[in-house]
Amino acid sequence: MTLKEMLQQSRRALFFGGAGVSTESGIPDFRSQDGLYSQKYDVPPETILSREYFYRHTGEFYRFYREKMLALWAKPNAAHKKLAAWEQAGILQGVITQNIDGLHQAAGSKTVFELHGSVHRNYCLKCGRRYSAEQILEQEGVPHCTCGGLIKPDVVLYGEPLDEETVGGAVAAIRRADLLIVAGTSLTVYPAAGFLSYFRGERLVLINRDETAFDAQCDLVIRGKVGEVLGDIDL
Ligand code: APR
Repeated sequence: MTLKEMLQQSRRALFFGGAGVSTESGIPDFRSQDGLYSQKYDVPPETILSREYFYRHTGEFYRFYREKMLALWAKPNAAHKKLAAWEQAGILQGVITQNIDGLHQAAGSKTVFELHGSVHRNYCLKCGRRYSAEQILEQEGVPHCTCGGLIKPDVVLYGEPLDEETVGGAVAAIRRADLLIVAGTSLTVYPAAGFLSYFRGERLVLINRDETAFDAQCDLVIRGKVGEVLGDIDL
């Protein structure tokens, strides 16, 4: 059965994505050959993107973060747009994403569970005041609030827990889904990758350029670019 046929028969489809959903928008992923973690750094990116490093080397963190994690120029690609259209048409319940780029919302998706937060939400650790990604990009060095407090991006750094409400919503959506489309993720980072174990529906589909450890558990594996694969489906 094709993905198109599965979508036509589904009552409650759901999408679960990772960095591979945004590569066709020009944002590198993490673990591919040309991914962020494959580039040479004196300090490994996974160390820089950790809670401890944020507090102990805040200046260094923000230099890397502005350069490598803030891709405000990126636009939604065919995958983001098609998913938003299917939600609009009542075919898709929504999107669960590990990405922090906000491109699903930019494409018009309304129900988006951002497991790892978003670069578009930044807040003062002292008074809680909110700041936009643009304001973080404009400031030089370590961004501070008007109250003097340190501003932190609302993204889940290594060593930090996921937001409980987001997790609850995502797990409930996975439990309800009858079709789960997983795409653009190596499924190597937990707890995100573990969410698939909550799926009780009939059809699990994986669209990924490279092989993953979950391929054998899927009903359909499509080895391809998610923007092209979804872009080619007209329901
Ligand atoms: N279409 C389909 N698959 C793609 C595409 C594409 N256009 N581009 C890349 N891929 C695949 C790659 O083959 C790879 O398996 O997407 C996967 C991306 O994997 P990762 O780079 O590991 O990204 P992700 O799974 O989202 O990482 C999870 O790790 O560092 C943390 O918090 C970070 O959210 C991130 C988490």
